[in-house]
Amino acid sequence: TLSSAMIDRPPLQLVKGMPILGPFAENWKDVERFQARSDDLLIATYPKSGTTWMSEIVDAVLNDGDTEKSRRDNIFNKVPMLEFWVPGAIPPGSEVLDSLPSPRLVKTHLPVSLFPKSFWEKNCKIIYVARNPKDVVVSFYHFDKMNQLHPEPGTWEEYLEKFIQGNMGFGPWGAHVKEFWALRQERNILYMFYEDMLEDPKREIQKVIKFLGKDLSDDVLEKICLQTSFKAMKENPKTNYTAIPSTIMDQSVSPFMRKGICGDWKNHFTVSQSERLDEYYQKEMSGTDLSFRFLV
Ligand code: A3P
Repeated sequence: TLSSAMIDRPPLQLVKGMPILGPFAENWKDVERFQARSDDLLIATYPKSGTTWMSEIVDAVLNDGDTEKSRRDNIFNKVPMLEFWVPGAIPPGSEVLDSLPSPRLVKTHLPVSLFPKSFWEKNCKIIYVARNPKDVVVSFYHFDKMNQLHPEPGTWEEYLEKFIQGNMGFGPWGAHVKEFWALRQERNILYMFYEDMLEDPKREIQKVIKFLGKDLSDDVLEKICLQTSFKAMKENPKTNYTAIPSTIMDQSVSPFMRKGICGDWKNHFTVSQSERLDEYYQKEMSGTDLSFRFLV
């Protein structure tokens, strides 16, 4: 079972040159061959960009804001992660998804270069959520400290350098956000920003409702905003990951629902670290019309 699983920070492994969490890489063949269905809805993100938040929003929208229905199961069961696998403890996400009835919700952190091609062939809807890299790396750092599936993060200074080098589970941030951005018009992609969601959740949830072809009343929309607020999701045992044993996620080190704000990077970066990341950011974004907000 999950609670007795021996998980001891397995090293990252390369899949087509991309660093992936070790156990996930072991199941690569099945991920690559995964059979999409045309009514699958994907929630794709670089890690720590608001995946869980968007997952709960999508589920709430599909259930017309019925809070009881949303509470039927844990978020990681309602929206299984395609590439997930803890050998001997949790079956591969690809297998779990194969056994689910349609329509399915699918979570993935895979970059475009590793996306199973079946999703493109079936023209599946994708909601992509992106977040500014300074808050992403801070959130990822705290997550790696508490999550035994991830390599030891080391010092903050070392971690930041690894992030800039792209030597992270799921690879570099820059390529991830840029490649989905470039595809958003030719593919069925709703490209969302964490900072926009914080600024005006109602406006942003409206975009999701429209993308899903739903029509919900203002009351229902208000209800969904409340149910998916940081405070509600932090208190909700079905969304706050407390169902995962502390041998895997030790929330006494850092809670999964940590801060849920924009700008916590200011409490972590020195001036020179901030300049170093600005330099990386500018280089990555040059030649694109993609840009991020670092404060809301
Ligand atoms: P912090 O660590 O900065 O607090 P993911 O789900 O992709 O792993 O992203 C996790 C990040 O999203 C965490 O960021 C978490 O607190 C934040 N988050 C989760 N639910 C949220 C919500 N309802 N509102 C705002 N932020 C949320």
